[in-house]
Amino acid sequence: MENTRLKIAVQKSGRLAERSLDLLSKCGITLERSKDQLLCRAQNFPLDVLLVRDDDIPAFVATDVCQLGIVGENVLFETQEFEAQENSENGNFSKLETLVKFGFGQCRLSLAVPNEINYEGLQFFNGKTIATSYKGLLAQYLQSQNINAKIVTMRGAVEIAPKTHLADAICDLVSTGNTLTSNGLKEVETILNSQAVLIKNLNMPDNLNSICVRLVTRMNAVLKARNSRYIVLHAPINALDKIKAVLPGSKAPTIIPLKGCNEQVAVHAVSEEEVFWNTMEDLKDKGASSILVLPIEKMMD
Ligand code: PRP
Ligand code: ZN
Repeated sequence: MENTRLKIAVQKSGRLAERSLDLLSKCGITLERSKDQLLCRAQNFPLDVLLVRDDDIPAFVATDVCQLGIVGENVLFETQEFEAQENSENGNFSKLETLVKFGFGQCRLSLAVPNEINYEGLQFFNGKTIATSYKGLLAQYLQSQNINAKIVTMRGAVEIAPKTHLADAICDLVSTGNTLTSNGLKEVETILNSQAVLIKNLNMPDNLNSICVRLVTRMNAVLKARNSRYIVLHAPINALDKIKAVLPGSKAPTIIPLKGCNEQVAVHAVSEEEVFWNTMEDLKDKGASSILVLPIEKMMD
């Protein structure tokens, strides 16, 4: 029987889990979900959601278990790099395409050393031992920088490696930096900047691809709305040009007459960027009043 439902792999628990499910929900997708369930069925969209460990997501998508996945670029690039180094036939992993960059789950993969080290540059790592869960990316980076270091692979708790003398330094994800600080480590080099992305297997059958296009259109609409604001204000007609000039990111605001008032009009505009307090103060200085800045829930061109 032909498969008529799209499958997407999403992190079960961790940094991306909640944001990923929240995004699907903002796309109007209602999931039937009970605790500890691995596969959730959407009731109002031909989509099944597989809840898994983030590190397994590229493999699920590469091997056609799922057609899509929401994953951090750190995990995606590490899997691709690792597979390329370890297996000469890494055909499956190179078939993954990034469709959408979500802008959440931002972090970086960095090298960190104990605070007491007087770090003067990359040469420090020559002849040293570095603990990491990102062997592929680290090996590639060290090679590109002509550094000869030993890599110790650890699954978790990488940050305790220097204290226990397993390694001289670590290469790990940094988000707030709290983990490094509380383990007496300092970040010295950034290898990669990462965010959550939507990945797709390039061999998608046509019927599933059209569901995928619908989903991606909704995702882009949610992302666009997330960054946009609806601005409403009253403007004296003689100050309209000056006010329009400071309205952030809006090309053609709508001008509406105010009944019984000849000197003022209402201005409605969509701004595709954040509206800061100083912009509002600027608008007020130019003569605007009754200024409202509203969030936008959905937006489609
Ligand atoms: C990363 C990393 C650190 C922590 C750093 O783990 O391994 O433990 O986040 O974050 P901080 O700078 O805000 O303290 P993550 O939560 O991504 O889990 P995973 O790597 O096991 O998936
Ligand atoms: Zn993980």
